[in-house]
Amino acid sequence: MRTETEHTIFLKDYTPSPYRIVSVDMDFRIGIDNTRVRAQLTVEPREGTAPGTPLVLDGDELSLGSIAIDGLPLALSAYAADANGLTVVEPPLRRFVLETEVTIQPEGNTKLMGLYRSSGTWCTQCEPEGFRRITYYLDRPDNLAVFKVRMTAPRDVAPVLLANGNLIDKGDAGDGMHYAVWEDPFPKPAYLFALVAGDLGSITDSFTTASGRKVDLAIYCSHGKEDQCLWAMDSLKRSMAWDERRFGREYDLDVFNIVAVSDFNFGAMENKGLNIFNDRLVFAQPETATDANYDGIERVIAHEYFHNWTGNRITCRDWFQLCLKEGLTVYRDQEFTSDERSRAVKRISDVVTLRSAQFPEDGGPLAHPPRPDQYREINNFYTTTVYEKGAEIVRMLATLLGEAGFRKGMDLYFERHDGEATTIEAFLQVFADANGIELEQFKTWYLQAGTPRLTVAEHYDADKQTYTLKLKQETLPTPGQPTKAPLVLPIKFGLIGPNGSPMGWSGVSGAEVRDDMIVLRDGSAEVVFTGIPSRPVPSLLRGFSAPVIMETGASQEDQLFLARHDSDPFNRWQALQDVGMALAVDAVQGKPWSDAAVAALSQAMGDTLGSDTLDDAFKALALTLPDEQLIGRTIGKDIDPGAIHDVRKQLLRAVFGPLSRQMLATYNALASTAPYAPDPASTGRRALRNRMLSLLVGSDAPGTSLLVAQQYDAATNMTDRLAALSTAAMAGTPEAPTMLADFRTRFGGDPLVLDKWLTVTAAAPRDGVIEDMKTILADPAFPRTNPNRLRSLVGTFAMSNPTQFARADGAGFRFVADFVTEVDKVNPQVAARVLTGFRIWPMLESTRREAAKAALTGLSAGGTLSRNTADILTRMLA
Ligand code: PHE
Ligand code: ZN
Repeated sequence: MRTETEHTIFLKDYTPSPYRIVSVDMDFRIGIDNTRVRAQLTVEPREGTAPGTPLVLDGDELSLGSIAIDGLPLALSAYAADANGLTVVEPPLRRFVLETEVTIQPEGNTKLMGLYRSSGTWCTQCEPEGFRRITYYLDRPDNLAVFKVRMTAPRDVAPVLLANGNLIDKGDAGDGMHYAVWEDPFPKPAYLFALVAGDLGSITDSFTTASGRKVDLAIYCSHGKEDQCLWAMDSLKRSMAWDERRFGREYDLDVFNIVAVSDFNFGAMENKGLNIFNDRLVFAQPETATDANYDGIERVIAHEYFHNWTGNRITCRDWFQLCLKEGLTVYRDQEFTSDERSRAVKRISDVVTLRSAQFPEDGGPLAHPPRPDQYREINNFYTTTVYEKGAEIVRMLATLLGEAGFRKGMDLYFERHDGEATTIEAFLQVFADANGIELEQFKTWYLQAGTPRLTVAEHYDADKQTYTLKLKQETLPTPGQPTKAPLVLPIKFGLIGPNGSPMGWSGVSGAEVRDDMIVLRDGSAEVVFTGIPSRPVPSLLRGFSAPVIMETGASQEDQLFLARHDSDPFNRWQALQDVGMALAVDAVQGKPWSDAAVAALSQAMGDTLGSDTLDDAFKALALTLPDEQLIGRTIGKDIDPGAIHDVRKQLLRAVFGPLSRQMLATYNALASTAPYAPDPASTGRRALRNRMLSLLVGSDAPGTSLLVAQQYDAATNMTDRLAALSTAAMAGTPEAPTMLADFRTRFGGDPLVLDKWLTVTAAAPRDGVIEDMKTILADPAFPRTNPNRLRSLVGTFAMSNPTQFARADGAGFRFVADFVTEVDKVNPQVAARVLTGFRIWPMLESTRREAAKAALTGLSAGGTLSRNTADILTRMLA
């Protein structure tokens, strides 16, 4: 396999740069054909830098026009520019100004890194290493500088000119051009730089901070979409208020701007004072956006806003520390949603995501620690492990320290490190110092890959009235880490007595136990409770207090007891899922379920549905079975996705079929004529009603496929319409093709609705889906450079259609491999991301495994791959 460049970067090699750039003065001349960038960098040698030490700046696809130091052009022998950057051979050993002028081509920039054009708008994406595609620079997060940016652009195509910080000047520049000057007073790394120039509409609002400063807020978008930005604005204002209340963090500039663009590699970006968003995470109106979209917008608006303190004011020393800002900021956005909506529902949904995305990463060929110690391509480390497992680690800290102790640590973090680029070690130190504890062993969570397995066995001794829990933890080897150390596991728990109420104890020994938490630090422990009058049912890992795979061997009877009586809503939900999982796993492995076992689960589901204390959103999450991929991973090897699909379908019918009258009654009772609102209660109602619909279809109750079609036709919002469409397509009802065709045309040219159609099409587990996708991609009108479109189709297929992607004949694998080869030439980040869908391959049964391997090796033989894609492929095949 040939790759662009093979080099590995190691954390242990980190050294500060011998020079620092302390301030930046930039002048952009934006033209239709190209953009000229002049940069004046004020450079200082770091203390101790030896005379003659070269200044090495990063640069990528830049063409250098001129170069000078303190106004004097450099001789040809004084510098060298190559494909990776610019070296000034012998810079002065004092403060000096390096001035360069380069030309760049935003128009042809399909990688969407650096300055590029999206639907005519010039915009930037610099994290992690995009700024070097704009000018020569020390493109590393530990170089903090103040920026002043002047931009000149044609007024007709770019009436709006934005950059970080505050607008300090603007005016006419003659020849149809105009200019604006922006200044950001806060020193920042280059990855937080941003600039936007385009013809955009906007909505504006304001927020007054706790100390009484008025901040002007604006969201910019393509003309005509302004009305679709209101929910994002509402979410922004609530985020700003929440960060003041919960963490004492105020916003620090006079303006906060958000720009929605259509072509974007990720979700959104926290550039200082100028967040840039993928438009799918800004636009919402009831007819075209689902409850899940509203949810995602609220969450990501909050996430990017919260980065202002956790990421921007305090940033990362190097990219190995990425989860310093991402894990912490995900934790913060999770808390925001929990406070704004339902904590239990949020926790369950987050754990579902963790298990369906992070656990497979952590248990497959791409496993890596939340803080990796090496990488070849940093773009490939914006992973669910860094983000979601990173957030779980912060959550465990909060659990171990308690709310007050955690807050003390956070306060110290802001006090001690404001304005710095720092590390995971420094982050842990503030919690240790603020609480007078040590966190050495806890740090292992950041350094070790793999999901720990926690096994629990119990013993009740009626004579001695003791109850014993035997705990054992083990983490399996992951690539590059053959042996693992024990982790600190906070295990929230309770003991429940026969009448369903909590049971106390008179003494406990064998491990650190604080109130309702066991802290397991060793590989194993025996926790003995004394004064226990009868055998309790243990409720373990309440709230999913540690990101582990827990095996308890609990009986179905105990699980259903928990489903009924546990005071912890998470474990009530978990218990029902565990019962379903056990039945599914047994059946896949050739042990058919007993009628009694299914009837018991069915009854528990019916009781849950009928409960008048549980809310709709919770019921919607509880009334289901674990998804196919989770069943597959629980089995762990020789997986046949087709067999799992069939078993799950039968089990759904067996469990929910007997409830069809109750489900239909619920479905009808939950109908509403109220206008759409995205509040938690309405969202929960729709979630439960749509869950009923899909379960009714899955139970083959008579007339239900027509009911689905009716809901589709009558729907007044996208949540209900898409739920019906997806239910029909996934089940392959007779009406599905008509509904799909209708949906394709109904919303005209709305690209975000097209994405929904692509997603539903690609996820359907039916033969013929690959041919259909080929036809879609072959259409000359298909927007083949837009990441959202490509991911909706092929990303969905590779990640969420296991039966067709992992077909025994290998057609699914070959389709995705061919797609990756093509897209890699245009946008390597999208290609590499889609390729990660192959990570399940080692777990498949042998025919499918061989077919996957053949597709992957074919890809590696095929020619030059980008560093992004080559890195994923190499690790996948290692
Ligand atoms: N930093 C962004 C976030 O998580 C993600 C991102 C990474 C966006 C790289 C673009 C490029 O908020
Ligand atoms: Zn982030």
